[in-house]
Amino acid sequence: MAVPTQPAPVLPAPVLPVPVLHAPPPLLDLSNHIYMINVKGPKLAPAEELEMSHDPIRQGAPWTANRRAALAMGLTTAGLAATHPALAATAARGGGKEGKNAGPDAGASPRRRVRLAEGWRFHLGHAADMAKDFDYGQWQRTYAKPGLDGSPATLATFDDRDWTPVRVPHDWAVELPYAAPIGPVPKDEEDSAAAHGFRAIGRDYPENSVGWYRLALPISEAGISKADKGRAVWLEFDGVFRNCKVFVNGYEAGGSASGYAPFRVDITDFLDTDGGPNQLALRVDASLGEGWFYEGAGIYRHVDLVSAAPLHVPQWGTWVRSTPDATGASLAIETRFANIGEQAATGAVRHRVIAPDGSIAAQTGPRPLALAALGEASQDESLRVTAPHLWSPKTPVLYTLETEVLVEGQVVDRVATRFGIRTLTFDGHRGFFVNGEPVKLLGVCNHQDHAGVGTAIPDALHAWRVAQTQSMGANAWRSAHNPVSQALLDIADATGLMMIAENRLNTTNPEAFDELDRLIRSSRNHPSIILWSVGNEEGHQASERGRHISTRLVARCKELDPTRLTTQAMDRGWNEPVNAGDAVDVVGFNYHSEKIADWHTRHPGKPVIGTETGSTVYTRGAYVNDASAHVVRAYDTEYPRWASTAEAWWSIVARDPSIAGGFIWTGFDYRGEPTPYPTLPSVSSYFGAMDLCGFPKDNYFYYRAWWRRNEPLVHLLPHWNWEGGEGKPVEVWVHGNCGEVELLLNGRSLGRKAMAENGHLVWQVPYAPGTLEARGFNAGKLAAQDRRVTAGKPAALRLVADRKRLSADGADTAPVRVEVLDAHGIVVPTADTPISFALAGPARLIGLGNGNPTSTEPDKGTQRRAFNGLAQALVQSAGTPGASRLTASAPGLTSASLDLFFHA
Ligand code: GAL
Repeated sequence: MAVPTQPAPVLPAPVLPVPVLHAPPPLLDLSNHIYMINVKGPKLAPAEELEMSHDPIRQGAPWTANRRAALAMGLTTAGLAATHPALAATAARGGGKEGKNAGPDAGASPRRRVRLAEGWRFHLGHAADMAKDFDYGQWQRTYAKPGLDGSPATLATFDDRDWTPVRVPHDWAVELPYAAPIGPVPKDEEDSAAAHGFRAIGRDYPENSVGWYRLALPISEAGISKADKGRAVWLEFDGVFRNCKVFVNGYEAGGSASGYAPFRVDITDFLDTDGGPNQLALRVDASLGEGWFYEGAGIYRHVDLVSAAPLHVPQWGTWVRSTPDATGASLAIETRFANIGEQAATGAVRHRVIAPDGSIAAQTGPRPLALAALGEASQDESLRVTAPHLWSPKTPVLYTLETEVLVEGQVVDRVATRFGIRTLTFDGHRGFFVNGEPVKLLGVCNHQDHAGVGTAIPDALHAWRVAQTQSMGANAWRSAHNPVSQALLDIADATGLMMIAENRLNTTNPEAFDELDRLIRSSRNHPSIILWSVGNEEGHQASERGRHISTRLVARCKELDPTRLTTQAMDRGWNEPVNAGDAVDVVGFNYHSEKIADWHTRHPGKPVIGTETGSTVYTRGAYVNDASAHVVRAYDTEYPRWASTAEAWWSIVARDPSIAGGFIWTGFDYRGEPTPYPTLPSVSSYFGAMDLCGFPKDNYFYYRAWWRRNEPLVHLLPHWNWEGGEGKPVEVWVHGNCGEVELLLNGRSLGRKAMAENGHLVWQVPYAPGTLEARGFNAGKLAAQDRRVTAGKPAALRLVADRKRLSADGADTAPVRVEVLDAHGIVVPTADTPISFALAGPARLIGLGNGNPTSTEPDKGTQRRAFNGLAQALVQSAGTPGASRLTASAPGLTSASLDLFFHA
């Protein structure tokens, strides 16, 4: 570690203000840099004004400006929206006041929705020992007589007081110990242990692979009582990993084999309304994985309890298709209805379309509705919106369809459906267009995984990850390789992030079709989705069987959603006489961007994207390869044999307008599939432009430079702490988009170089401690600068959060960046200081991380080492308003504290 040779410089004000559309990323060596979540779309009203106290539509109350804004966004949950606009949409879905009735179909609506986040109890079962699995499967009772299930753990009488209280979303795998693989691992092959990031889960660990959850259902909060017995009641699960069975009062009510597709469980028939407890229990079996990456385990996405009138709109029962034209947009609305009553039911349905400004853009009068006893029906309606505001990545405006069911003139059910009006066009020669405007897809692929929490990512953390991604300049996200969470889709809608939504299974068994149905029905109203993906690198992709399977899946996509095109990610076989690419509208190239031009000459006019591109592997903040320590330098030089550098793929795709864009593998590091080192201590991949905490690696700035090229940027690497290396050459890179860059060491110019389009610059600089500076010039004028300053020994800690005001909703979460500083306030880029955390006030520490792909420290707890100067603490509201203080301390260092305010 070098001792500073000069006082820390005072950073000058930026020479040219950079127009910040999105959050500037946390620069690794800048001080206390507070950045904002990207805020687009309608400006939101203060929290207090967003609550709907009565039903303005039915009672004909005037629409106030604020109420308009709220309803246009579908908001009834004030806190989240006010503090975290990107979460407005997901708050509307029920993501706000968890445990309370919330959502667009809440408030005065007779429909009730209760988010089931609190009050759960959890216990590991056992995949091989029935006695340790709460006697599940004992004798024949599991299926012989419904209602007398073999496991006492499904009944209200079971004593679960020694089970662990947990909050949902919950991932139990992230708390399991690390374990070396059992048995020999074939050379250069990953086994399931590596896929899990060496967490002790899967067939080898039956004692860790089954989890039980129990919750007393709050049915009165959901409006269910003895007096009102006839209501339809169901549970909406957005994702449970995996193979889960759902029991209510001992009855097996439903479940899902898929760990990713959302599902509904009808529990109407199993509830007791006479005042007794109503016991929900889940047995979740993660013995088998579905992927080759870390997948977590448990109820890792939201669960809602919903109750509605006997005559109602069922889950995913509304579908809006819009076709804009020269003067307006035609809306085709399909609505499904269900009558759970044993008598025929008659009523009426009416729709209103609320524009982004809160005005009513279109409406229908009540249309009669007649359903048979226990019947279902659907109805088509068309509406016209004049001069619509079009959704696009830059203008992510949303309309809301309000659908009301009336019986004898009274509204008995109401649902709100957000949608956007836009056109999407893929042109095999000219690329991709949104509303007729060319848009290059600047994409990232991601799994759902983050430091500290695993797959159980709170909505606010999803929003933060999206903001980090958009700050890099990305406008698109491929959900690899499975259906994405509804929370993320809501955030994508609200922030203009375009999504490729992918099905998990590329096969034609009933389960694969069922998962595809659930994916599309649950998400087809989201304007952010631009493509359905039916597969990824399938073994049969280059065969007639592969083509036929994908053809059938594509046909089902078109049946469920004729408005969108389809893709499939392939890593070979594009030029085979028959291949899966023939089945889809847009061919996906995983890697091999250099082969696209040749392929295109054989398939002229066929749209193409890079479904996985690049794949530099790198350790954040490391600049010297060290195979023995599994450290990979963060220059854009290291990549696996099938992949390329960032610069190689982007240089090809950027200049070829016929390639609609590309999706880098990956935006964030993720656990499992540890590449390039498939053995312990590597537990996560090294692919991310950001590490597992979302801290940028240097390539983040390569992408930012060229993906946000109108904003002058220079970014210097490596750090400037090479004690002992005085006089020896250091390879210095500059990423950036300025026409010329000058490099200076301790004020002495090392020359100016011209930056090549989509390139980078390199200098060999004999090391001398001090300040290394890059200055970017456009047309001879200083436009951007960056510097690295030799840091001294660790002396203090600093805590930085993007937001200090959070909602007290029990879910809002702030990722707090922990920096190790020297005596002059410079981040020490090599520090691995052990840090202890303490938290006071109405908040909880839900996870810790540091972005080190070889760290096997626990994600939970109060201790974590820094890694190359940084660590991260995730602080979540505990559900009550007030101030909380996070304190970080380390032996011999000045501790740091950060106050966060949770408001009602
Ligand atoms: C691809 C695959 C991804 C990931 C990546 C690693 O083949 O689709 O899921 O495994 O390789 O390079």
